[in-house]
Amino acid sequence: MTKNSVACLFLIVLCCTSCSDDSSRSVQQSILIYPDQESENFKQFAKLCSSCHRPPMPNKHTARLWLSTVNRMQLHRAQGGLAKMTDIEKQRVLAYLQGHAQQEVQP
Ligand code: HEC
Repeated sequence: MTKNSVACLFLIVLCCTSCSDDSSRSVQQSILIYPDQESENFKQFAKLCSSCHRPPMPNKHTARLWLSTVNRMQLHRAQGGLAKMTDIEKQRVLAYLQGHAQQEVQP
């Protein structure tokens, strides 16, 4: 192998690894970033949904499923000795989750 072909191989390897690094990083970011983080609704959600587990991504469920899920979390709060969410708090959390929910699949 000549000096030139070694240099060439090195460049090819460098190109390939840097490309694949970039794409995996951008996929991770799109999974981990919560939408609309500046909003009041997000702040309520982050405060009220982080005591027991990591707050879920809003696109995990459809709007309809969020209603029953948040009602179930209200029960968990009572069981865990935490104060119930007030109606307004619950409305804000639901507005955040449902506003960024997974789209309902049309039949
Ligand atoms: C008092 C503790 C507690 C708080 C606060 C809490 N959760 Fe949970 N959460 C749980 C427990 C326990 C489970 C597992 C059992 C279950 O799914 O009901 C769970 C599971 C979940 C799951 C996974 C199951 C599913 O249906 O996808 C989601 C999503 C979720 N919680 C969303 C929320 C949201 C949204 C909030 C804020 C309104 C919240 N949680 C606040 C205790 C809590």
